[in-house]
Amino acid sequence: MEMATPATTSAHLISLSPLGYHALGTASMLETTTSKVCLRAGSATVEVTALAPDLFRVGFFPHGRPASYGSEAVIPREWEPGFVTIREGEGEVTIATSVATAHLSLDPLRIGFTDQAGRAFATDDPELGMGWLTPEQAPSLDMVNPLAILGTPTRVYKRHQQGARYFGCGERTGELEKTGTHQLFWNIDPPRGHTALQNNLYVSIPFTMAMADGQAWGLFLDSPARVEFDLAHEDSQRSWFGAENGDLVYYVFCGPTPQAVLERYTELTGRTPLPPLWSLGNGQSRFSYETAEEVRALARAFRERDIPCDTLYLDIDCLDGYRVFTWDNTRFPDPEGLLSELREMGFHVVCIVDAGVKVDENYEVYTEGRERDLYCKTPQGDDYQNAVWPGVCVFPDFTNPQARAWWGDLHQGLLDAGITGIWSDMNEPALFIPLNSTMPSDVIHPGGGKARLHTQVHNAYGSLMVQAAREGLLRLRPQQRPFVISRSGYAGVQRHALIWTGDNSSTWEHLAMSLTQLLNLGLSGVGWAGTDVGGFYGDTSGELLTRWTEFGIFQPFCRNHSEKQTRHQEPWVFGEPYTSTIRDLLKLRQRLLPYLYTLFAECHRTGAPLLRPLFWHYPEDTDAYGASDQFLCGDALLVAPITRPGAEYRHVYLPTGTWFHYWTGERFEGPAHILAHAPLGQPAFYVRANTAIPLWPAMNYVGQAPADPLTLILYPAPGSGSATLYEDAGDGYAYTEGEDARRAILCEVEDKLIRVTLGAQEGTYASASQRFLLELREVSTAPAEINLGDQPIAWYYDHEQRRVSINLAATAHEQVIDIALS
Ligand code: GLC
Repeated sequence: MEMATPATTSAHLISLSPLGYHALGTASMLETTTSKVCLRAGSATVEVTALAPDLFRVGFFPHGRPASYGSEAVIPREWEPGFVTIREGEGEVTIATSVATAHLSLDPLRIGFTDQAGRAFATDDPELGMGWLTPEQAPSLDMVNPLAILGTPTRVYKRHQQGARYFGCGERTGELEKTGTHQLFWNIDPPRGHTALQNNLYVSIPFTMAMADGQAWGLFLDSPARVEFDLAHEDSQRSWFGAENGDLVYYVFCGPTPQAVLERYTELTGRTPLPPLWSLGNGQSRFSYETAEEVRALARAFRERDIPCDTLYLDIDCLDGYRVFTWDNTRFPDPEGLLSELREMGFHVVCIVDAGVKVDENYEVYTEGRERDLYCKTPQGDDYQNAVWPGVCVFPDFTNPQARAWWGDLHQGLLDAGITGIWSDMNEPALFIPLNSTMPSDVIHPGGGKARLHTQVHNAYGSLMVQAAREGLLRLRPQQRPFVISRSGYAGVQRHALIWTGDNSSTWEHLAMSLTQLLNLGLSGVGWAGTDVGGFYGDTSGELLTRWTEFGIFQPFCRNHSEKQTRHQEPWVFGEPYTSTIRDLLKLRQRLLPYLYTLFAECHRTGAPLLRPLFWHYPEDTDAYGASDQFLCGDALLVAPITRPGAEYRHVYLPTGTWFHYWTGERFEGPAHILAHAPLGQPAFYVRANTAIPLWPAMNYVGQAPADPLTLILYPAPGSGSATLYEDAGDGYAYTEGEDARRAILCEVEDKLIRVTLGAQEGTYASASQRFLLELREVSTAPAEINLGDQPIAWYYDHEQRRVSINLAATAHEQVIDIALS
């Protein structure tokens, strides 16, 4: 039997088997290598490879298609799976690594995995397994269905483990947990005012992290074509993962922790680069600040009002008729002069670059791209045209390495003018005819010799555009870290750009949705992300803007942005008490930069997102899964934003451990469900006991003043805790040569003794701070004595605030501070 059609094998399956689905039948061995098993099932080839001890790849190539793993997401590398044992038994082959085993039963071919304890996960459904759909049943986005090239849609059905819960799936609004949902991966520019019902947005990451019995595993289906996941939605006993482009290549991450899954996933698809430090400060944007004078006034307004801001954004009205890489000479007569004035004032300026290039014989970018033949084509061979902001446009074929190199070099003019970051937009690509559409499936991407249909590469278009931008900036300005922000992307986009979540709305619902949106992006490898603070569409209010800023100061990317013709929403627009409240919040953001930067270093090293759902650190705690309207920022801060108007109180779940309310110092023992009071300007957030939070003095922009002293706030409680501080020059690449500074900060509390150990510095970077101020909070009695090593040291105790302050030199060697309480 070549292919078993389940519908013909048992009456029971007739109702369950999807129409036109053909499951794989018997398989026979083709060959094995040290870590790979190749099988033949009918005319299909199936390969299962151990890439790492906790990572397997499955490739399914039906109808005689050749095995191929080419990918926009995956970084080519030599994998080291360690010691792999392949065993052929009666009707079964196993591939065992040091941590997991892949089980391939051959009649019919079904694949599953077990961990060392024998726990099964990602197990093929016994009846449906892996297979393909007859073309007529293939859901298609439009009328074009060029099957000769695309092959048939493919799927793998997995058994839904009892109690398993799915998360991730990239940029998603709606609930954090995705169990029981159907997920579509197809990048779009959604209509204005999208709700949680709008499943697919600007970014597609066909990756899910599953949690079962406190153990994590993950599945990534690598296809930039249309992909769907059905996560126990159609059938509560099964999930399926399907792609429309003929092959099915998926990766299984064995975990067992969320950290392990994401570390491996981001090893496969790339990690977030270390951002330039300035880009973590506050940003101000609007569609658009329309003249140089308006931008100058904006900059002055921030500085005069003493409101922090590092970055200003120039939207499309700075361009000449919306032509990318140009300036409107009337409204921006002297960009160099303007940008150098802003630089003097401590501002960085980021400029927008859309994907569409205006068709205009007198526009050099257009004619050059045409002469070099770098645009997407119609099936007839003409440059494909559609309308975007500038009117009729063509679209670079970013699948072509030459087009990427050309595009990257075009950024030279912007850098020469003094632009320090690039905002890549409309890169789904978004088209205006019809409104909110994208390219037809049959548009050709010539690819510099490797032509593909748009439908085959659609989800990767945005990623490839920002790859071009990032690589261009790296070539043109190798000493500085590129700053690229993108609206669209595919899995792996995190290595090229940060993601902002596009055109949200100034509504409380959108504020609430943005929490889970950023959490699921983080669980899908995109740790560097943010929403438009205040909301893009519609008019915001003072209260909404302030509450959004309360969340915004913890977002990895913090930028206020709004649409044309909406009410302005700069921090001072709504008057008091909002202006002062937003100022204080943004100052807190600036103070938190050393903490956030340390988290970025961790994200860069391990893939761990900055914002984490509670289960990330508490996978065994069932209450943690329900707490999706709050999050951990790193492991030391728990943040519970207010997302309703007029509300000052909200429920907060504190997991195991001792937590201190940041504003009042009130102490809580978790696990506990509590009612938090969060008046405007005091977002409910809690600091984990014994975990140092590094803070800078308040600054309005990075580099405004010396980072002295660097305050380490600590809330001691019986037990112990540790934290890390990472520092480097904040830009450039000297850190890759060891010019960074990493230290561990340990806090141990027993009876009446608090011991704080500032570990010796690793790395050669001379800290930006000369002094550390150790600030122990909520210490109820004055210390009897404090020693640094065996020497007494000066200290100060504030009875009213219950705070001990100790000044220390920021030396590179270890410092042990013993605080004996009276
Ligand atoms: C898109 C972007 C938005 C930008 C606008 C004009 O809608 O998402 O942020 O302001 O285009 O460029």
